[in-house]
Amino acid sequence: MIIGAQGLGRVLCQDLRARRTHLHFLADIQLNMSIVFAKRLDNVETSAIRELFKLLGKPGIISFAGGFPDSAVFDVDGLRAASQQALADDADAALQYGATEGFGPLREQLAQLMAARGVRDVGPGDLIVTTGSQQALDLVGKVLVEPDEPVLVEAPTFLATIQCFRLYGAQLLGVPIDGDGVRVDELEALIRQHRPRFVYLIPTFGNPSGATLTRARRKRVLELAVQYETVIVEDDPYGELYFDAPPPPSLLALSHEVPGSRDWLVHCGSLSKVLSPGLRLGWMVAPPALLSRAVMCKQFSDAHTSTFAQAVAARYLAGGRLPAALQRARAIYGSRAGVMCQALRDRLGAAVDFVDPQGGFFVWARLTGAAGSPRDSAALARAAVDRGVAFVPGAPFFCANPDPGTFRLSFATAGEDRIREGVDRLAAALAA
Ligand SMILES: Cc1ncc(COP(=O)(O)O)c(C=O)c1O
Repeated sequence: MIIGAQGLGRVLCQDLRARRTHLHFLADIQLNMSIVFAKRLDNVETSAIRELFKLLGKPGIISFAGGFPDSAVFDVDGLRAASQQALADDADAALQYGATEGFGPLREQLAQLMAARGVRDVGPGDLIVTTGSQQALDLVGKVLVEPDEPVLVEAPTFLATIQCFRLYGAQLLGVPIDGDGVRVDELEALIRQHRPRFVYLIPTFGNPSGATLTRARRKRVLELAVQYETVIVEDDPYGELYFDAPPPPSLLALSHEVPGSRDWLVHCGSLSKVLSPGLRLGWMVAPPALLSRAVMCKQFSDAHTSTFAQAVAARYLAGGRLPAALQRARAIYGSRAGVMCQALRDRLGAAVDFVDPQGGFFVWARLTGAAGSPRDSAALARAAVDRGVAFVPGAPFFCANPDPGTFRLSFATAGEDRIREGVDRLAAALAA
């Protein structure tokens, strides 16, 4: 059984149905050996999928593996009312084809949402709605990646973007991070040396790192963008899910402090973690030349994001329920994060090292090997599944030179008692 290979964590981030789809895809490959597939598929790996599927299907397993929100947190009543209203008010618009750039009322709401998050001077015309922020990242890949040319990403970073940029042929180079996010000294050195097509960062409550870039480092990133004329892609799906205090402003919100930086900045937002991933709604703010090319590529791809989903979200946001829903989500996730971190300290002690996340969904931990304890998270993952708890080993999140001791635990979906029980099981696996 192989755990920790490329593609593994991605599957863990999907729902069951999506995993089944991947399995069918693999079966197709076996049945149609004569079909010649595009070479670009050689750049991404799917081989560990089957093993994972087996692991997650085990009855009674406590999963810290997924990257999705708890469905108990969804504001079902609010979304039901918004759906009804979308159909009652303007069914023609909600059910018809729409503009590639997005549904006007939603673009307006998203511009207001960003203004409330401290972003200045971004109107509805400065953003496009995408099918999840995942599509925004795909569009970035389409319009900016040149095969075999470098792209800088954090080490570790979001697995799906590693796969997506690789699919377009990017030569990914990892920038080290610490507890305060990406190391800007290393970032500058790598930009200077490699002149990347762009730099992809998750500055706030990173996936998988959980880390938050300090305000000073954010400013430095923006200065580097201007100094080296390098595009920075800010991926920000978790920024609103802080536990105690709000994080520093997004790069986009800070950009007015660094003249010229807006010309180099792409910002990707998402309603997935704050409202519902099933709506598949994200957005992208970018300089006009980049945005128009992204729109062109989106036109050829899905024409537009579901008008109905956009109409529902527009009604929902206009109804003013999001702040209360967010408040609730922050309290639930914050309390689960606290329970997980405390349980890890109590039950695993010096065997693991981690920084308490201040928001988001993830604890990024590292096996220290203290007092002869294990150092290999892939081996621990196997033992953990035998004891009924799953997590994602860290290796797939690195574009190169993985740290075999690292692993990602999500506290988002299990209740507090299940989290304690899961960490107990993890401790038992560690001691075995
Ligand atoms: C860092 C990061 N970016 C983007 C996404 C994709 O989110 P969406 O559902 O908006 O496509 C995720 C989802 O897990 C994520 O963790």
